[in-house]
Amino acid sequence: MDQIIIEGGYPLRGEVNISGAKNSALPILAAALLAESKSRFKNIPKVKDVTTMLKIISSLGAEIIQKDDTLELNPVVHKSFASYEFVSTMRASICLLGPLLAKKRETKISLPGGCAIGPRPIDLHLKGLQKLGAKIKIEKGYISARGELRGNNIDLKGPFGSSVLATANIMMAACLAKGKTTIFHPAREPELIDLANFLNKMGADIKGAGGRKIEIEGVKRLEGKEHTIIPDRIEAASYVIATAITHGEAEIKRADPKHLSFPLKKLRQAGVQIALKPGGLIVRANERLRPLHFITAPYPGFPTDIQPLMSVLLCLTEGKSVIKEDIYPNRFVYTGELQRMGADIIPREAGIIIRGVNVLKGAKVMVSDIRAGAALILAGLAAEGETIISRVYHMDRGYEDLVKKLSGLGARIRRERT
Ligand code: EPZ
Repeated sequence: MDQIIIEGGYPLRGEVNISGAKNSALPILAAALLAESKSRFKNIPKVKDVTTMLKIISSLGAEIIQKDDTLELNPVVHKSFASYEFVSTMRASICLLGPLLAKKRETKISLPGGCAIGPRPIDLHLKGLQKLGAKIKIEKGYISARGELRGNNIDLKGPFGSSVLATANIMMAACLAKGKTTIFHPAREPELIDLANFLNKMGADIKGAGGRKIEIEGVKRLEGKEHTIIPDRIEAASYVIATAITHGEAEIKRADPKHLSFPLKKLRQAGVQIALKPGGLIVRANERLRPLHFITAPYPGFPTDIQPLMSVLLCLTEGKSVIKEDIYPNRFVYTGELQRMGADIIPREAGIIIRGVNVLKGAKVMVSDIRAGAALILAGLAAEGETIISRVYHMDRGYEDLVKKLSGLGARIRRERT
């Protein structure tokens, strides 16, 4: 297994290009299976979760050709079965459920596992598909779904707000259902707008994606189209905060600041200087930052995926910060590793209290999930001395060329096989 070694204390300077959004590419690749013809994609990120999704899609019979920065997908689907071996490595493969059911009228997909950030239920996915007329059985760890889909009114409000991938699944299935579907309380993430834009290019009739209600008129067939994936807002936030925590100055290119309005507002409150420019933003932080309070929430609120990254930044501010995690209440496994580096973090109900310290010290730490890994990288960049990070395969799932991009910004970072 590989590890990443960082010599901390070097301000990040220069510019970095953001890759395509993993959480947009995954449902859009699944959506391509709904079409009767080939689709062609640009800006698909070269990350492990996409590789896994492409392996599953190929195992269903689809043909995939990758040439330079273009990926072509011919949706020749013979099978509609996704095995535990695949799905357990990447729970996002649950977003194949809607398209395969709509296209093949029956599918069998392994129940996704949980992960370090908490249980990952799919009740909203199943409730929505049943409302569209699907007959669903769960046995031996697999979901079997079958039936002709008919439009319906579906409310996706769950105990933690809506569900991103459930909204994606229902939107994709409803495109080929007979009649009209209205989704109340959908998730509003930019990645779902990107998915709706791609589906509409293919001939779907979707209105209101990104808003409080999505209306879909079912159509008979969809044709493959060309599409460029939107930038990854979570990757962009990771480099913004990496620049801030090292008191550097960097230009984050090929990013869309509109997708980061709330986190950027909070970062400015902490004292980070952020200037927007066409196609990206410039970040600078040269004095000690101020503490913050925030609660994670569904988009356009503060993204749960940025919570670990922001928490690390707040470990080095002057004063007390209070963080509440309302999407994944247990998403704090990483704080134990930060405490080993000298962070002063007190757990509280579904959240943490951080008391700023003057310095973090490099140490050996272990990654538990993709964004916890990014948080530990940021801590290593800011810490005094050397930090050795193990189980880095978690970051490979969602960060393209992480070590190369950070080295390009002047970080003293390398990756070694152990
Ligand atoms: C998406 O996961 C993202 N993944 C996650 O990013 C992100 O953390 C999450 O949305 C929240 O923003 C992808 O898009 C591939 P949810 P998803 O269903 O769709 C509860 C990353 O780092 N819930 O919106 O699986 C659930 O337990 C990953 O890239 C139900 O109760 O998340 C959670 O508390 C990590 N019932 C909340 O809703 C359901 O049927 C939000 O989950 C589904 C979810």
